[in-house]
Amino acid sequence: MKKIIIIGASGFGKEATWILERMSQSGQALGLLGFCDDAPDKQEGHFVGVPLLGNVEAAAARLAGARFFCAIGNNRIRQSVTARALAVGLLPFTLVDPTAIIAPGTKIGEGSFIGINSIVSAGATIGNHVIINHQACIGHDARLADFVQVCPGARISGGCEIGEGALLGTNASTIPLIQIGAWSTLGAGTTALTSLPAHTTHARLK
Ligand SMILES: CC(C)(COP(=O)(O)OP(=O)(O)OC[C@H]1O[C@@H](n2cnc3c(N)ncnc32)[C@H](O)[C@@H]1OP(=O)(O)O)[C@@H](O)C(=O)NCCC(=O)NCCS
Repeated sequence: MKKIIIIGASGFGKEATWILERMSQSGQALGLLGFCDDAPDKQEGHFVGVPLLGNVEAAAARLAGARFFCAIGNNRIRQSVTARALAVGLLPFTLVDPTAIIAPGTKIGEGSFIGINSIVSAGATIGNHVIINHQACIGHDARLADFVQVCPGARISGGCEIGEGALLGTNASTIPLIQIGAWSTLGAGTTALTSLPAHTTHARLK
């Protein structure tokens, strides 16, 4: 049985717990050890009925060799906390909901999240610690770098390249073959018709 720690005892952590349960119910041998969090009021006790284990370093000292999923939605913070977890020897674990449809041969990086009813099409490449939330669609041959987040219902068309740490908001979409630069944001409900440089935000005008 794989023993899992979820980092981040809040909304996305709650959701990760649910997906882990769904994976267990589909026959995978998984056990949730508890949550890690840095918040002073989340160091002991329980969150959604699951033990709080202290911060990442404290948990790793007691639970060597455990796997972790970093359930922190903010891409920058997920990157820095993931680095801490790896530094203390925790091993990344990837959550894939049983309803996700992933084309054969697709590469899914470690520590990533593939939500309910999402689709990853043929030839796509998904980096490490990427979030592909519920009902998102990743087109054929799209390439998503590490720490990208694709929010619920967002659609990336074929052949797009999404740079490290970029965020596509809820129901955002791209036409084929464009690039979204590293750490850029495509606003909720916005369709990108041209490429977006790094470190920029683009939202559809009201
Ligand atoms: C684009 C975005 C990053 C802008 O955030 P922000 O910089 O804090 O902007 P504000 O909320 O201050 O809004 C600034 C203006 O842009 C408008 N705006 C914000 N987001 C917009 C969007 N997605 N589409 C159209 N207009 C938008 C606001 O209404 C506001 O207009 P106003 O100046 O006329 O009042 C954010 O609104 C967004 O879409 N984030 C995606 C979040 C998401 O989907 N999360 C899902 C998590 S699972």
